[in-house]
Amino acid sequence: MVALHPTVVVSGATGAIGSATAAVLARRGARVIVLSRPSDRLNALVDRLGGDDNRISSVPVDLSSMSSVRAGAREINRAGGHIDALLNVAAVFLRDYNKTSDGFELMLATNYFGPFLLTNLLRDRLVGGGRVITVAAPSNTRIDMERLFAKKRFDALHTFGATKALDLMFTFELARRAKRWDVMSNAFHPGLVRSELMREAARPIRFLAGLASGSAHRPAQDLVELAISPAHAGTTGWFFKGTRRIDPPKSAADEAVQAAIWQRTAELVEMEIGGF
Ligand SMILES: NC(=O)c1ccc[n+]([C@@H]2O[C@H](COP(=O)([O-])OP(=O)(O)OC[C@H]3O[C@@H](n4cnc5c(N)ncnc54)[C@H](OP(=O)(O)O)[C@@H]3O)[C@@H](O)[C@H]2O)c1
Repeated sequence: MVALHPTVVVSGATGAIGSATAAVLARRGARVIVLSRPSDRLNALVDRLGGDDNRISSVPVDLSSMSSVRAGAREINRAGGHIDALLNVAAVFLRDYNKTSDGFELMLATNYFGPFLLTNLLRDRLVGGGRVITVAAPSNTRIDMERLFAKKRFDALHTFGATKALDLMFTFELARRAKRWDVMSNAFHPGLVRSELMREAARPIRFLAGLASGSAHRPAQDLVELAISPAHAGTTGWFFKGTRRIDPPKSAADEAVQAAIWQRTAELVEMEIGGF
């Protein structure tokens, strides 16, 4: 059963894919809760999509800060009501090593730890049919947590690739854990999309990506389809490119590794009882 005005939480809604997705959701009558760092472009987005009916609201969240994630989740939880879908879209690519106040490397915090904690903290509002969709990529980077924590071994593309592989592993482990709450978890690869995401990448990478990238319009339509269409109400544990199921890289498909990484992550973000 899909609500007439489903409630959908979207992170990264000021970005290329997130803003296109929020716009499609708004047109389809969804209540959209936009999570983002406060900015003029966030205000402009809410004004643009909001109209007069209060269906678009925003909650300030910096996904790189676990205390900000906790505060954002508290605000969403206080509002109450069922969340029909949580779309983990936000991500960042940074050329240089940056350490957050929690002691994490910044890409790892924003692209993986933040969404992991947020999703777990929203569990009780997703219960009973909620869909979590995490935007990832078919990354075959092997995960070595110790390496990811070692500043001396930092390599921006390796860390970024690792965050996308971690997003896949998180998705599949969540799908198994969340079954008892009737919550679905899938990953989504948008294909190459024109955006500012890789603006700090080396020029040849940006050049090649620019040649191959397309508009965010199609992936946004597909993401909304997965988020609110009755056809995908029970789908869980899948990796999608568009609305087509694809195989994840083998390196992200090992269930024992997924479970171990989940456990380690829960410890690192100090997740209290109450998560999945
Ligand atoms: N573009 C592609 O070709 C491609 C391919 C495969 C997968 N993807 C995935 O698609 C997703 C969206 O990418 P995009 O291309 O749309 O990127 P984008 O345009 O750069 O958008 C990134 C979004 O992440 C948000 N963000 C960054 N740091 C944040 C933080 N600390 N806290 C909260 N939000 C933060 C940004 O918001 P603010 O800066 O306004 O806070 C922005 O809304 C990402 O997960 C990416 O890995 C993209």
